[in-house]
Amino acid sequence: MFSKDTYIKRRQQLCKDVEKGLILVVGNSDVAFNYQANQYTFRQDSTFRYFFGYDIQGLIGVIDVESGEEYLFGEEVDMNDIIWTGPIPSLSERATEIGVKNTGNIKDLRNLIDKSVFAGRKVHYVPPYRAENVEFIADLLHIDYRFVQAYVSTELIAACVKQRSIKSEEEIVEIEKALDTAYTMHTTMMRMAAKEGTYEYEIAGTMEGIALAGGGPVSFPIILTTHGEILHGHDHSLQIKKGRMIVSDAGCENVMGYCSDITRSVPVGGKFDARQKAIYESVLSAQLLAAKLSRPNVKYSEIHLAAVEQLGGCLKELGLLKGDIHQAVLEGVMGLFMPHGLGHMMGLDVHDMENYGENYVGYDKKNVRSTQFGLASLRLGKELQEGFVLTDEPGCYFIPALIDKWRAEKKFMDFINYDEVEKFKDFGGIRIEDDLLITKNGCRILGKPIPKTVEEVENEMAK
Ligand code: GLY
Ligand code: MN
Ligand code: MN
Repeated sequence: MFSKDTYIKRRQQLCKDVEKGLILVVGNSDVAFNYQANQYTFRQDSTFRYFFGYDIQGLIGVIDVESGEEYLFGEEVDMNDIIWTGPIPSLSERATEIGVKNTGNIKDLRNLIDKSVFAGRKVHYVPPYRAENVEFIADLLHIDYRFVQAYVSTELIAACVKQRSIKSEEEIVEIEKALDTAYTMHTTMMRMAAKEGTYEYEIAGTMEGIALAGGGPVSFPIILTTHGEILHGHDHSLQIKKGRMIVSDAGCENVMGYCSDITRSVPVGGKFDARQKAIYESVLSAQLLAAKLSRPNVKYSEIHLAAVEQLGGCLKELGLLKGDIHQAVLEGVMGLFMPHGLGHMMGLDVHDMENYGENYVGYDKKNVRSTQFGLASLRLGKELQEGFVLTDEPGCYFIPALIDKWRAEKKFMDFINYDEVEKFKDFGGIRIEDDLLITKNGCRILGKPIPKTVEEVENEMAK
């Protein structure tokens, strides 16, 4: 954990920003895997971890905004717990560690909440995403579980987004530790992908093992596929064959819960053919341009558009597109090749704070999400600020079903050379992703450089 001052300051700032009422921060509990005593690997709620530090089951934090009193609630351990899980500190010892004065059990929590609710005070909470926490909040606040999402506090969401979006130096150090592990995951993948006949699951499993050996789980289920055109391809059942690109999109959490999120795309066997090199370098030029343009006060939606225009220009040179590419981008043509957004915030969550609602995190009153296919999937569209950590992850995909659909609908016939695009239906896809820190005048790619140019990737694969 960070020092107690970090958590104290974070909660004090939260109090200032929320102004009135009680803030309820529900930590996660264990979830049964296939029976009660066999559980999924525990994953703490990121809001709880940010303000109360602990990566431990069954804790609930409360802040009384007006009085400034803070509470840590949970059940004290008994001998049975000690026998099965070992000696653990008492609740009050834990509370002291994070600068919280008051402790209590769940009954005490109920009493506190009841008193506040009956006094007409607002209880703020952020959107729960686990059924048991929805049920817990419904029960605690005496509301129907179907209204729990409707009563979330937009003031609390805004206050959390304000703080968590700007990463401190100590947070950047942790994110870079997660990137060190991601470096090993992806360079190992490159060397394994050089050998035709390996199964995708052998590579994905090795990468997941590296994440675990680095101290934390993967930050999301690994995407490792020779069918990169399937954007979230979690199937790893295929044997890798020359002629296919592998899209490897994977990151980890470090012991402090901070994430990395990296994508590299490599040719099975270790050598790009001419077509793979052409598409790869098109995506890479878009990715590099996006990093070059990323700085404070620039909207990420504009950088997304600049990146897809760059990609479009390259695809025109390859004969896949025609006409005025700037106009093509405005009309939404690039959704055919890149139906996802350029990137998202990253921190304690790989899509940071996504449980609050993407529009609260990536957009604001001045910057409203587009409804255009492709651009609508952009999770971060607002102006960048110093201290943001975000991903830069353009891609180019040839999705046979989407190509067929658009062609049948005669979509954008003035811009798309469908006869040429058809020839790429067996290509798959390519994505390249790095994690950026927005600095005073630009950005810094976090972590040590992971091979990215054609030459660097081929050299790594030859090792
Ligand atoms: N979880 C996939 C990505 O955002 O990169
Ligand atoms: Mn990713
Ligand atoms: Mn990402």
